[in-house]
Amino acid sequence: MKGSCCKYNSSLKELIKAIDHEPAGTAFIIDEEEKLCGIVTDGDFRRMLLKGKSMQDNLSKADLGDYVVAKKGESMEELLKKTSKKIRIIPIIDDAGFLVDYFVYRHQTRFTPIAEPSLDNTEYRFLMDAFTSTWISSRGKYIDQFEENFAKYINCNHGVAVSNGTVAIHLALKALGIGEGDEVIIPDLTFAATINAVLLANATPVLVDIDKDSWTISVEEIKKALNPKTKAIIPVHVYGQACDMSSIMHIAKENDLKVIEDCAEAHGAEFNGQRVGSFGDISTYSFFANKIITTGEGGMCLTNSAELDDKMRQLRDHGMSREKKYWHEEIGYNYRMTNLQAAIGCAQLEKIDELIERKMQIERDYKLALDDLGIIEWQQEFDNRKKVVWLVSCLSDKKEEISQQLRDNNIDVRPFFYCLSDMPIYAEYAFSNKNAKEISAKGMNLPTVENVDYSLVRDLLSRI
Ligand SMILES: Cc1ncc(COP(=O)(O)O)c(C=O)c1O
Repeated sequence: MKGSCCKYNSSLKELIKAIDHEPAGTAFIIDEEEKLCGIVTDGDFRRMLLKGKSMQDNLSKADLGDYVVAKKGESMEELLKKTSKKIRIIPIIDDAGFLVDYFVYRHQTRFTPIAEPSLDNTEYRFLMDAFTSTWISSRGKYIDQFEENFAKYINCNHGVAVSNGTVAIHLALKALGIGEGDEVIIPDLTFAATINAVLLANATPVLVDIDKDSWTISVEEIKKALNPKTKAIIPVHVYGQACDMSSIMHIAKENDLKVIEDCAEAHGAEFNGQRVGSFGDISTYSFFANKIITTGEGGMCLTNSAELDDKMRQLRDHGMSREKKYWHEEIGYNYRMTNLQAAIGCAQLEKIDELIERKMQIERDYKLALDDLGIIEWQQEFDNRKKVVWLVSCLSDKKEEISQQLRDNNIDVRPFFYCLSDMPIYAEYAFSNKNAKEISAKGMNLPTVENVDYSLVRDLLSRI
């Protein structure tokens, strides 16, 4: 007999011991002949006390309500049909009515989000320090510290903190003088911020296909898309994977093109041992709450050029002269980050390597739990690239079934970005998209948070 059994006339004290002994938090009640005659869950027990029973009282058959039972040999499908949000535990009896086993359906009631920021005492302390200093707008020690330390982390000379990752791309394009009549090559598989920033700068995006293995912009397609109007390339290190930066920088040099690396999803990723964001003329980052490090909303432009750094600082601040207050030399923007945001960023930066490693471990745990099911194709790793895990990104022919199954059980899952060229507002900028369509159709991101219940995810996916 499996399960904690209790006689129908036991004391409530004996009953709670049996409930406590059982991981399922349930006592199986048996009659004089030791046949099953009811079940009592920890919730039922609470309700008995609320109705006025005391620990000295004995259980009576009248205390036992209806319960659902299964016969030995019933299939998993039959067992699952009997479960509901209320019925999670089903005793299994033999033909004579004796308990032989029980089935527990673990219905996930707690929501598992796709990502969540890791905020602790250091973020709180720095934030409160910025708050009490009264430097809550865009000047203050944390801004300088965040710009300097993030630039140093990526191995760049200058950092310009901005209000988000989208304006970071726009600022970079403006600082490089890219605008009307200029073509900018970008990958078809990226978040819409990349193309929106190009359009905001009045330039013309050219959407090229991705590489099937890395999911990043295809070097061959960049070459095919080049023409005299091409002025820049924005390689996007999508889903934490570094683009082929040596080939891209080679093409840029040969054709006198600017390179803006969109690193919104790849803080700390490497190509040939060098951190992405340190190859191009300017690189851009997002610090949105689901990113590898966050400032709530926020972004940064990095560059090795003192001239571009100066230009970006001026454009970020209404195009105001840096020497003469209220003297505007060009039309600029208010793209500034606040000292409060930068304070959170400084705290995040202290543990960036730990955050990256934790997410890598989450991906390893998924692989361990799900690999042998044979329905998931993981993001590829390359000898000369070090990818980071932004979200656990993977492909599957069964993407729809997997997504449905997880969502039905309160576990979030996100599809890959749609191909930009598939959306009517961007369709006119399409150049090539064969691989992007295939990867976008099969791609999904799994929750990349600490409390994933891997055995539950495995259980759910094994039913597909
Ligand atoms: C590739 C890429 N570029 C740019 C951005 C824009 O960043 P933000 O949301 O901070 O504006 C994102 C944001 O998700 C992104 O994924």
